[in-house]
Amino acid sequence: MSVITTQRDGDILVIVSDNPPVNALGHAVRAGLAAAISEAAGDDGIKAVVIRCDGRTFFAGADITEFGKPPLAPSLPDVVDAIEQCPKPVVAAIHGTALGGGLEVALGCHYRIAVPSAKLGLPEVKLGLLPGAGGTQRLPRVAGVADALSMIVTGDPVDAARALEIGLVDRLAGADTLAEDAIAFARDVAARAGHPVSSLRTDRIAEAANHPQVFDKFIAENARRLKGFDAPKACVEAVRAAVDRPFDEGIRLERELFMKLVSGTQSKAMRHLFFAERQAAKIDGIPADTPMIDIARVGILGAGTMGGGIAMNFLSAGLPVTLVEREQAALDRGVATIRKNYERTAARGRMTAEQVEAAMALLTPTLAYEDLADCDLVIEAVFELMEIKKEVFRRLDAIVKPGAILASNTSYLDIDEMAAETKRPEAVVGLHFFSPANIMRLLEVVRGARTSPSVLKTVMALAKKIGKIAVVSGVCPGFIGNRMLRPRQTEAQKLLLEGASPWEVDAALTEFGFPMGPFQMADLAGLDLGWTAEGSTSSTIREVLCERGRRGQKTGSGFYDYDDNRRGAPSPETEAIIAEFAAKSGLPQRKFSADEIRERLLYPMINEGAKILEEGMAQRASDIDIVWLNGYGWPAYTGGPMFWADTIGLKTVLDGLERQADALGPDFTVSSLLKSKAGAGETFN
Ligand code: 3HC
Ligand code: NAI
Repeated sequence: MSVITTQRDGDILVIVSDNPPVNALGHAVRAGLAAAISEAAGDDGIKAVVIRCDGRTFFAGADITEFGKPPLAPSLPDVVDAIEQCPKPVVAAIHGTALGGGLEVALGCHYRIAVPSAKLGLPEVKLGLLPGAGGTQRLPRVAGVADALSMIVTGDPVDAARALEIGLVDRLAGADTLAEDAIAFARDVAARAGHPVSSLRTDRIAEAANHPQVFDKFIAENARRLKGFDAPKACVEAVRAAVDRPFDEGIRLERELFMKLVSGTQSKAMRHLFFAERQAAKIDGIPADTPMIDIARVGILGAGTMGGGIAMNFLSAGLPVTLVEREQAALDRGVATIRKNYERTAARGRMTAEQVEAAMALLTPTLAYEDLADCDLVIEAVFELMEIKKEVFRRLDAIVKPGAILASNTSYLDIDEMAAETKRPEAVVGLHFFSPANIMRLLEVVRGARTSPSVLKTVMALAKKIGKIAVVSGVCPGFIGNRMLRPRQTEAQKLLLEGASPWEVDAALTEFGFPMGPFQMADLAGLDLGWTAEGSTSSTIREVLCERGRRGQKTGSGFYDYDDNRRGAPSPETEAIIAEFAAKSGLPQRKFSADEIRERLLYPMINEGAKILEEGMAQRASDIDIVWLNGYGWPAYTGGPMFWADTIGLKTVLDGLERQADALGPDFTVSSLLKSKAGAGETFN
């Protein structure tokens, strides 16, 4: 059956798309739409047209899988033009998400009607692109420059109510009556004399034409978001053209910019990440009919930094949480922090006071382990010591009902060792959240040797429910993320002894696109994590910094000196401490270029990633990219460490590691997978 069909309702032609799962505008859809529009144009019995979609959503965009392949006519811009030029008024009937090319189709229509739950957006920038079917020229003309700029540059959608406010939607439909309401709307407009044509409108862009500084102001306000990315700059340039130039010239510029971006490495990298994120949810070796465990109540052990943040994820999703601590003071502190975080969100207008109370009402704080008995999932977030973890698992196993899942938030420890303490090793899994756990989207799901398919499938679905991006890891120290972080940290420390400064090392990484470097990160986390004055022996740079009261941002100094606004400056005291250690090490001192610093820090990480793959600890290279992107701030426009390695060439990485062999030391070994792939000219992804 064709993906596009037409139906008649009296003198209204209804064009229906049915192209699951998201009605992407692939070739068949475009061809069908073009044919249906000419059917409407050529039929005197038709007075107006409705375009709507079956299934869960209106067109969610161009078909991303077609990018990079030879184009097939009709192109999407041509289809949108044909809709706009149709002599009969065309109404877009929107439900679900009208995204990218989908919204561009709707903008080609003369009118738009949407259900209240609909979302409308131009997310191309998130794929390293700009809207390429007239969106940069039509959206400002329909919705005004300020809203268009923000939608196109951030890629974030607006809801139907906002779309109505800004003129992007003309009318709201009933929640369940879109098809009928759209036909009624089409009949209304058919009786009108003229119809709005988006490309011909000037009313909404007139103001910006008189105030061109709106663009510079926007760029200045969004500088951080724009840094390093090519696409947002192109988006701004194209929207500016909507104001400065005639429509046709604006479209030509949009096309030029789109073609440049779509063939560039940034967009390839970001498209890779789009599919990688969806791929990460798929687990090898889990039959489709694997049953899920119903999770109605979650238990959390430990109300510290992690426990509280983890609890918030479930409370926010409407799941009741039992929070257990070993002492009242820690419990009270934990609960107070949760409330404070919610109240801060409410103060910023992102939650109502009622929502704060509703979330808090789902929380049951207690000192009694027994209260965990009826939980379907218990996550422990107690101190990172195997002996304590083991004891916790023995106790939980005895108390928590049979069939319930027991999870650990450990950062490094062996899940199988904990599982062995229980009579239900199949129910034990690692759920490694990242700090702050209520905000960071990454969740490493650690698959133990005996974790059952049912438990894995359940926690992956639960992760999606609480808005996390879950990646499956095998059991190894530090799992995927922290295991790869370790060589980077080791090399960063060694570089200090060889003549590089913390600021040079940090700058090499921030230039690459990380939000901060290893020493800025250490200062932020606190240098005294796991440090005590009594146990300190002045044997590392870090220990000496702590001994001198330089314990990180919170004490006003660490590697850096901080001002009242927490802005860090290079510290002569730190330099002197490092110089002493460097002299003691006897290592020759020299200058390092930013490129060499990156080679020393990043190539060993890729090598570790390759080992993780060859040992089967990650299911696929793209999962590693997802971990580093969402857990550690690896810049999205490079596609993640493994994709970046593919881009620069695995032979380049291997050669770099060989060049650094002396510095990396005798314990460093090169991954055999990296060697063989580099030798064969292959890639990881
Ligand atoms: N092209 C091709 N495949 C797509 C797609 C697209 N635009 N959008 C989604 N898919 C695929 C996904 O890869 C996934 O495939 P899988 O099941 O094989 O893994 C499947 O559709 C379902 O997608 P999700 O799992 O993401 O489903 P959700 O219900 O969670 O989300 C969605 C739906 C909000 C529509 C989300 O898929 C999404 O954000 N899609 C991308 C939207 C987008 O970026 N559109 C712009 C495209 S670029 C463009 O239009 C250029 C134009 O300006 C010329
Ligand atoms: P934390 O020290 O802030 O909190 C631990 C809490 O557990 C304390 O409030 C303590 O009173 C409580 N506790 C200790 N033993 C207990 C017991 N037997 N029963 C009940 N409560 C008990 O520690 P944090 O940072 O929250 O770490 C917890 C776990 O999360 C560790 O395994 C850690 O490795 C892991 N983790 C930590 C991250 C971080 O950035 N802090 C990131 C990811 C994982």
